[in-house]
Amino acid sequence: MSSILLASTPASIDFESIKRLTATEAKAVDSLIIKELSSDVLLINQMGHYIVSNGGKRLRPMLLLLAAKALGKVDQNHLMLAAVIEFIHTATLLHDDVVDESDLRRGQQSANAVWGNAASVLVGDYLYSSAFEMMVRTNIMRVMEILSKTTTAIAEGEVLQLLNCNNPETTEEKYLEVISRKTAILFSAATRLAAVVSNTSAEVEEKLSQYGQHLGVAFQLIDDALDYKATKEELGKNLGDDLAEGKPTLPLIYAIKNSNPSEANVIIDAIKNGTREAFNDVYAIVKSSKAIEYTEQRANEEAQKAMAALEILPESEFKQALLALASFSVQRSY
Ligand code: IPE
Ligand code: IPE
Ligand code: MG
Ligand code: MG
Repeated sequence: MSSILLASTPASIDFESIKRLTATEAKAVDSLIIKELSSDVLLINQMGHYIVSNGGKRLRPMLLLLAAKALGKVDQNHLMLAAVIEFIHTATLLHDDVVDESDLRRGQQSANAVWGNAASVLVGDYLYSSAFEMMVRTNIMRVMEILSKTTTAIAEGEVLQLLNCNNPETTEEKYLEVISRKTAILFSAATRLAAVVSNTSAEVEEKLSQYGQHLGVAFQLIDDALDYKATKEELGKNLGDDLAEGKPTLPLIYAIKNSNPSEANVIIDAIKNGTREAFNDVYAIVKSSKAIEYTEQRANEEAQKAMAALEILPESEFKQALLALASFSVQRSY
């Protein structure tokens, strides 16, 4: 990736090494996930296992666990909430692939492509409901307040995004509003919940929440860049799904403003029509307008803000891992 990056990044630790720091706890979280997926309704079992057994970076639970370790120790409620966060994430993916008409997820056919839209929506609802059932078991009112506000905001983000679809006049500000809600707020909840369960000061809780929020914005900015520039094999998702949906993401918003009128019109029409056919033309304009670089630059700024919010934490390898995850979120190719 380009040289914009990250002069003040700590010596970069690779993703696999970061993963190893929470390997034991992550295993416990995965066991909880598998246990909670079991239902006597066969289709729920099948679809649940299909989607969770086939990879996924498990980034959100990792953030919660690393934050908990940076604050002291991981207890049962941290593990439970890490599973809850991954359930909510998985539910949003099931719904998202229906809305986006995507047929590839985590390198395999998406659940909607295998079982159809109705089954994906219903099993997504099941995952949301299970997540709430698990959350109630913590018996901590703040936890319930944070998670219910989070899922409400995610739904708002998704609806706002729907309203922006096929609208080439969508501004960068409106776009940021969408991604803050649909993506970043769940990252922010993950790191905030670690603090709540660890009984930290309000200030530490707030800083960890800010870290998650900025990281989440950076993560979605890069996701939206990758939809144009990744490889399908590495990403495990189709490229061009956003264009096919007429989604005005930042690469397009920037390219409209920073290309000549006839090029801008190609993009405007593609957003209005929501078609994959224009992908090659649109991609060429996105590339020549340097819209990907701009999007990465914005992501980099968010990652820097995320890192700055961690100053409040005492030094530890877990803090270093959280810092490195901010870099990973910007430099990733999958
Ligand atoms: C995909 O999230 C959805 C976005 C918010 C961009 P991830 O990239 O974390 O998906 P998995 O869990 O690793 O498949
Ligand atoms: C993220 O947006 C979706 C959610 C937050 C649920 P995308 O639609 O870009 O996610 P992918 O690219 O399908 O994973
Ligand atoms: Mg999608
Ligand atoms: Mg995407």
